[in-house]
Amino acid sequence: MPSAAPIPPEPGGAARAYARPRPELVRLRDGAMVTIRPVAEDDEGSLRAFLGDLCDEARRLRFFSAALDTVAAAHDAAETSAGSRGLVAHDESGMIVGHAVYVPLDPRRAEVAVEVADHLHGRGLGTILIERLAVTAEQHGITYFIAEVLCENRPMLDVFREGFDARMTSREGTQERVEFLTSGWRLAQGRFGSARHSGPARRPPPQSR
Ligand SMILES: CC(C)(COP(=O)(O)OP(=O)(O)OC[C@H]1O[C@@H](n2cnc3c(N)ncnc32)[C@H](O)[C@@H]1OP(=O)(O)O)[C@@H](O)C(=O)NCCC(=O)NCCS
Repeated sequence: MPSAAPIPPEPGGAARAYARPRPELVRLRDGAMVTIRPVAEDDEGSLRAFLGDLCDEARRLRFFSAALDTVAAAHDAAETSAGSRGLVAHDESGMIVGHAVYVPLDPRRAEVAVEVADHLHGRGLGTILIERLAVTAEQHGITYFIAEVLCENRPMLDVFREGFDARMTSREGTQERVEFLTSGWRLAQGRFGSARHSGPARRPPPQSR
């Protein structure tokens, strides 16, 4: 996903009622447990390792280039200013295994992107990260998520469509633009939530890198 120039959402409004999400322990489809929590500035090193470990194909699908500058990308991912919000998922050893972010385009719409460690694809983590991020966005008055996705990226398009009822709004060259309501997190939770166990994380896992 190419990065858009961030526009901070309007001050006040729904954001006034916002409570920073607490770390949450979630069981994935295969029984593995992950902790999901807001990204922090000191995650930069762990995010660099996480992005560096993705295979070239995953990096190309996510950033539209396999030749990614992981230092700059990790710095951006750990950034919490300018209205952007991110979530990370840790495994039980404390290693980051997933990351999702939204960047406001205007007060009501934000661009969203997600990436999951290669060995955890298909276990529900991408869906859960978008779902939790949509909850946060909704609390900040963001009503629509927009995503620029390569047309060949069926896994991503399927997650958006099947989980959140996303619709394609335009197609340009090799890219599709999809959008969905942030309130669609309720759909995803209704579709997949009962298969998961979740609760508060008792203690943060150690940072492994
Ligand atoms: C695209 C990507 C983020 C998807 O993440 P993921 O964790 O593999 O996706 P999920 O496991 O949540 O969803 C995969 C499937 O499981 C389904 N699913 C999700 N949660 C489920 C649950 N609890 N129970 C049953 N099915 C579930 C989804 O509907 C989807 O169905 P499908 O296999 O029929 O398409 C991942 O493949 C990735 O990191 N790709 C590389 C980076 C990238 O392309 N990013 C997108 C940039 S815009």
